Amino acid sequence: MNKRTILDLAPAEVKGKRALVRVDFNVPLDGATITDDTRIRAAVPTLQALRKGGARLVILSHLGRPKAKPEAKYSLAPVATRLAELLGAPVKFLGETDTDVAVAATKALHDGDVLLLENTRFLPGEEKNDEALSKAFARLGDFYVNDAFGAAHRAHASTAGVAKFLRPAVAGLLMQKELDYLGGALEHPGRPFIAILGGSKISGKLDVIEALLPKVDGLLIGGAMACTFYKAMGFETGTSLVEPDRVEMAKDLIERAGFRLTLPHDATVAPSIEVGSKAHAVKRDAIPAGEAMLDIGPDSAASFGRAISSAKTILWNGPMGVFETPPFDQGTLAVANAMAAATAKGATTIVGGGDSAAAVEQAGLAAKMSHVSTGGGASLEFLEGKTLPGVAALDDKAA
Ligand code: 3PG
Repeated sequence: MNKRTILDLAPAEVKGKRALVRVDFNVPLDGATITDDTRIRAAVPTLQALRKGGARLVILSHLGRPKAKPEAKYSLAPVATRLAELLGAPVKFLGETDTDVAVAATKALHDGDVLLLENTRFLPGEEKNDEALSKAFARLGDFYVNDAFGAAHRAHASTAGVAKFLRPAVAGLLMQKELDYLGGALEHPGRPFIAILGGSKISGKLDVIEALLPKVDGLLIGGAMACTFYKAMGFETGTSLVEPDRVEMAKDLIERAGFRLTLPHDATVAPSIEVGSKAHAVKRDAIPAGEAMLDIGPDSAASFGRAISSAKTILWNGPMGVFETPPFDQGTLAVANAMAAATAKGATTIVGGGDSAAAVEQAGLAAKMSHVSTGGGASLEFLEGKTLPGVAALDDKAA
């Protein structure tokens, strides 16, 4: 990675200094209960490394999508409690973010202390990347660390604007790990390099398909988006989710990709999601008129597994079916298991964030992947070849 990280800072730049650390603590909550703390755990190595270096931590994050004003259900207060448990150290929480009171609280910190400030999206200037707010954030620290890979595709005041006014501005260890894995797969993958893409809609994945096609040895498509390709091939798709306005694009992709593109040969179909008991497998050209494809079929799951086991780099983004609802989780589980086995054989396995990360977590296989990204939209935009504003804003490594 060509950006400076916390490891490039001199000890004197860290000890006794206020580190303003932007993390992505956008975690799912059920009331005040955090239902998945993966993103909090993922930030711990950076926070502990900074504490060990004697920094005073001032942490910023967004949570959810409040409408630029405080909303109790989006408060970061529950996160402070969980973070304290994970760090094994007290975490002070302040229900303000850009005020003089907040600045005073940062100045009262001692080496190794941790202060979490309130949700940055409670402030109207955050999503506008407002300059005055960026300057106000800059008053909260002596240097800036961005470890919020999951929010790096957002050009907001706390992810990008602040770095104009606060230097050094460096990447945290999670940010570095994400960029090294995802960037490594794109730039110098072990070959064969295959990508598996799934999810319901082809529209959200067209850019990533285009970006990956020239780089991969094979592109495997699953999920309901396969049905738009089936339509392009002239097959009956029943009541499956098809995007009619993308059928021509799908046709064009099939022609250009040639043998590199693999679509599932069979499908698990049912009259609806609610009647899993009526699920059955059919060949892809035999989807019944009144039924929908809700998962890839068992033959496809097996052949995707074989492709995974013969690859050296495997990148996966998007479930193969409605994995939240058995029995339509079988294709997704088959991919997750094959990837876990490939990791054990020495392959590099990378799971994009969002649904596929949730599926791997649910299957208890997250630790068996080389890397599970904490970024949904961010990992997709990175794979599409887009510049992430939260990364671009950081200091370049000396040439
Ligand atoms: C995410 O959950 O993908 C990130 O935290 C970004 O959240 P956002 O899509 O609301 O900007």
